[in-house]
Amino acid sequence: MKAYRAQLLRFDAQGQALYESDGLLVTGPGSDGVRRVIDAGAYRAVAARHPGVPVTHWQGRLIAPGFIDMHVHYPQTDIIGSPADGLLPWLTNYTFPAEMRFADPAYAAEIAHVFFEELLRNGVTTALTFATAHPASVDAFFHEAQKRGLRMMGGKVLQDRHSPDGLRDETEQSLADTEALIRRWHGKDRLGYAITPRFAPTSSEAQLRGAGELAARYGDTWIHSHVAENRDEVRWVRELFPQSRSYLSVYEDFGLLRARAVYAHCIHLDADDRALMHASASAAAVSPTSNLFLGSGFFDFGAAQAAGMLHGLASDVGGGTSFSPFRTMLAAYFIGREGQSKPGLSLAPSELWWLHTGGAARALGLQGCTGTLATGTEADFVVLNPDAIPLLARKARRAQNLQELLFALIVLGDDRVVERVVTA
Ligand code: GUN
Ligand code: ZN
Repeated sequence: MKAYRAQLLRFDAQGQALYESDGLLVTGPGSDGVRRVIDAGAYRAVAARHPGVPVTHWQGRLIAPGFIDMHVHYPQTDIIGSPADGLLPWLTNYTFPAEMRFADPAYAAEIAHVFFEELLRNGVTTALTFATAHPASVDAFFHEAQKRGLRMMGGKVLQDRHSPDGLRDETEQSLADTEALIRRWHGKDRLGYAITPRFAPTSSEAQLRGAGELAARYGDTWIHSHVAENRDEVRWVRELFPQSRSYLSVYEDFGLLRARAVYAHCIHLDADDRALMHASASAAAVSPTSNLFLGSGFFDFGAAQAAGMLHGLASDVGGGTSFSPFRTMLAAYFIGREGQSKPGLSLAPSELWWLHTGGAARALGLQGCTGTLATGTEADFVVLNPDAIPLLARKARRAQNLQELLFALIVLGDDRVVERVVTA
């Protein structure tokens, strides 16, 4: 067993922040070798329950759950910050050419390494990740995650049409490859497989149907795709699938909405779509830096809350402009505030934080597993040092309460404050 003393942020199952200005987190390995939270709370009370356990004291630091990125593309690490006139030209001009290079397993392994270094440097301990259409890109991703003992989900991209040579896959083979990868990786250590149709326009009906069948057969895998990101894309889907009620309904029609189905963006939805997300227990991966960068639109947090739709935060690198959860939470605040295309609201700092930790875990179907530092959950956490940034140090010192402290970190923080990352 090991114990860590510092300021301590946890969440309860409802998303309420629990804060100790002098806290203690006690961890120990479970029978499976994964380190879990054994006890946590105020230092005096918790320390008294665990005499003899060595305590590491991180004075002036904040222990918080590791961040969870609900949607990111590891093969796009190197095209971050590539400007384009919106989503579809960006895919054609930057994304597809970059992803073609992952036919080379050595290149895939190199980028997977860089990607995990970036995630961890930024305090992200779990992510749901796109690979590319090449099965070797999935092996590279999971090998690297396994080596580091991380809880990670990912999968091979399915795209058998409207895609260039070198990226386009073949329907039957793509489904056989997906099933083989599920058997190779899903449930191994802390890894999980995500069935990953890129988005409706780049999959044939046969490929979507096959993906839905795999999703039914392997019920605890993830489903991972994009929906309703951009108006041009929504128009295109309407042309391609005239029989479906809406873009989201296309996925419903092929059996691709269920618990652990995660859809990036969910911007241009209507009330029926949100009700469908809720009824199917599908989740939205809100990707605010990406939406601002590509000019896609503004996720409606108020409508999502009212519909009871599961949602959490994501970087969407390389459409997104930063791996840093602090940048993503700040952009989510801006998106929430936007009040011209929808009612504006002010997300509370602890709510933003929840959406990138325990709330994201819940949206991913990982509640009780990671993201909260509740007793029994996996001990993935970050140690934050507000003193690493001069202006933040001043602001944090003056914080009167938890909300002020968290907001200072969200507005002024970045990878410099992530002093240490401890994974289970
Ligand atoms: N829609 C289809 N593919 C992509 C992608 O790679 N990134 C984003 N942001 N949207 C997409
Ligand atoms: Zn994306």
